[in-house]
Amino acid sequence: MKGRFEWWNEWFDKKQKYARTEEKQLDEDRFNSICVGTGLPNIHQKSTFAFRDVQDGADRFLGMSPSGEKPFARVYTRLGNPSTEYLEKKIFQLECSHIIDKALAADEQDPTIGAFVFSSGMAAISTTLMGFIRPGDGLIVGNVYGCTDSFVRYLDDRFGVNVYFTDTTKTENVAELIKEHPEVVAVLLETPANPTLEISDIEAISKITEANETLLIVDNTFCSPFLQQPFRLGADIVIHSMTKYINGHSASIAGVSLGPYPYFSGEMFAAYKDFGPTPSPFDSWLNSFSLQDLGLRVKAQVKTAKKLVKFLDEHPLVKSIHYPGLKSHPQYEVGQKQMRGPGAMIAFEVEGGFEAGVKLMNYFARPDTPMELAVSLGSVISYIEHPASMTHGGIPEEDRLKRGITNTLVRLSVGAEGFKTLRNALDAGLRQANSSKELNKSKDEELMVG
Ligand SMILES: Cc1ncc(COP(=O)(O)O)c(C=O)c1O
Repeated sequence: MKGRFEWWNEWFDKKQKYARTEEKQLDEDRFNSICVGTGLPNIHQKSTFAFRDVQDGADRFLGMSPSGEKPFARVYTRLGNPSTEYLEKKIFQLECSHIIDKALAADEQDPTIGAFVFSSGMAAISTTLMGFIRPGDGLIVGNVYGCTDSFVRYLDDRFGVNVYFTDTTKTENVAELIKEHPEVVAVLLETPANPTLEISDIEAISKITEANETLLIVDNTFCSPFLQQPFRLGADIVIHSMTKYINGHSASIAGVSLGPYPYFSGEMFAAYKDFGPTPSPFDSWLNSFSLQDLGLRVKAQVKTAKKLVKFLDEHPLVKSIHYPGLKSHPQYEVGQKQMRGPGAMIAFEVEGGFEAGVKLMNYFARPDTPMELAVSLGSVISYIEHPASMTHGGIPEEDRLKRGITNTLVRLSVGAEGFKTLRNALDAGLRQANSSKELNKSKDEELMVG
């Protein structure tokens, strides 16, 4: 054992009691009832909270609270806020209901997992890493979102962290790197990866990381807690950009991170309090509001995505397609094992190469089409984008191409518009992309004119 984290043994003992459960998913009905809840909290749109007396203030600063609520949720909003605390509890229940079931009331007294909501997904990722990382530490990183990629490069360049990029879909790559570089303290991966939709085997990797006192951090954004619950598979830290499926309506930027309570209540809380990545109470309320129909939305979006994939797979103008629900997907079996469904993100290449791809995307910049040329995902609105020049444009070209993010790859986030609408629009867009006729004006041009 490395002895790098003073809380590791405490965490490891607790983790053994619940990690890698038989049930890979929380029952769907229960998931939906947690989402719906029994009433949203008020919006506590305030920066500071009055103490009952001096002792109450002093106790809260020492991390004690009289009635079991988060001690820092009623001190000063940078440290926490009741509207945010409500959302943290909800996400905790969705990701960790199996721990609550096993620990029952005991977990309240002696929590296993802590949770913080942030002002963005990137705030969640950067604060979670900065809370524990030190110069000389090693970090293994899979195929990750462009800004996560540039953030870890920043840690490497400026703070002396050794970052090792690798293809985490090959579990043996992680095992070899950990063996070669004993200073590695964490593995950070996305599964399915953005935008190639490759899948890493969380359970298999967690067995390797655990044996080496290394944290496994999973960015679960592409799935939302509905499709995948990485703690059940052995992850140590789970992160979401809530901007995506959890908000689901493109109305807010936010993130969440959950992980070992001894870390989250100690060093991680110190980073949260001092860096100031806190969300606004209104955004937390908004995300609690949108969370209510998360399961229903994602289920409907996945259903439409599956039908669209079938249509695109057979379309003469589509060259190749990446989707975890296709039997031809290289990690199809792993996806079946660890996800409730294959998701609502699709990546594909069109016949006609780069030029045709640009035409297809410009088609969806028109105001009379049902999706938007935009970079977010997980919304009820469908979005189409070009990772090589947009979301993943910051990754050095050589690395980007090695990861399969070609110049001709198009990413589609399937919304809730309905299969027939999207199918017809994609068909029209693909035909337009392969015709020599000029496209109509873009949305902005039309708006400016009219
Ligand atoms: C997988 C993934 N993680 C993290 C982020 C960052 O989230 P945010 O934009 O909320 O900061 C994104 C954003 O696109 C993402 O796709």
